[in-house]
Amino acid sequence: MSDFDILDEEVRSCTLCTLSAKRTNAVPGDGDRKANVMFIGEGPGYNEDQQGIPFVGRAGQLLNEMLASIDLQRQDIYITNMLKCRPPNNRDPLPAEITACGPYLERQITMISPKVIVTLGRYSTANFFPNEPISKLRGKPMPWNDITVLPMYHPAAALRNGKLKDALQRDFQQIPELLDSENADRSSPLQNTLPTTTEERQLDMFAPPPTDKEPTPNSDEEPSTAESGPKQMSFL
Ligand code: URA
Repeated sequence: MSDFDILDEEVRSCTLCTLSAKRTNAVPGDGDRKANVMFIGEGPGYNEDQQGIPFVGRAGQLLNEMLASIDLQRQDIYITNMLKCRPPNNRDPLPAEITACGPYLERQITMISPKVIVTLGRYSTANFFPNEPISKLRGKPMPWNDITVLPMYHPAAALRNGKLKDALQRDFQQIPELLDSENADRSSPLQNTLPTTTEERQLDMFAPPPTDKEPTPNSDEEPSTAESGPKQMSFL
């Protein structure tokens, strides 16, 4: 068994948090384990819980369309979620659940070692950049531990809001260029394509916590702020 198979088995038998009690299937992840680009969503919904595969519902269909628009297919990418089990009624992830599941995601990133990580939605993005709202970060490629992280709105949010869908479509168009520039030189990722100046980005470090109101991907509940949200990933 490969390390990846072992990880998937651990996820399927995981009981580290209470979400395990109500799951039909855990959803470790899917796709090319050697992919150059990795997508990270929030957590499985109803269809994903039924099938044990991420992004197989309506949000997944939109994601597939966006991928097709840049000549990629699902088998070209690796896709997973921050949470590997479905939260009840698709509610927002709880900090304790994110903490419990975090090491699985860390191991996946380490094993895949992608050139580009696309974070889908607030929670996934806050995992890497906890201090700024998704509305400010989306579409901005950010260097992170020798990987380029490109935050985007969640496709489920885009399904509800045409403006977010347009933004998502635009942000997707950056992926081929990012992969190309990563191939050319991984040591100087994308400084020239960052939309904000260094000075602005330094000032942002002292900005108050995000109060962003991106619609919650899996529910209509009010989103919480980063203060009650996930802690930044600690590894690498
Ligand atoms: N939304 C997510 O964040 N992940 C899925 O797998 C499906 C919907």
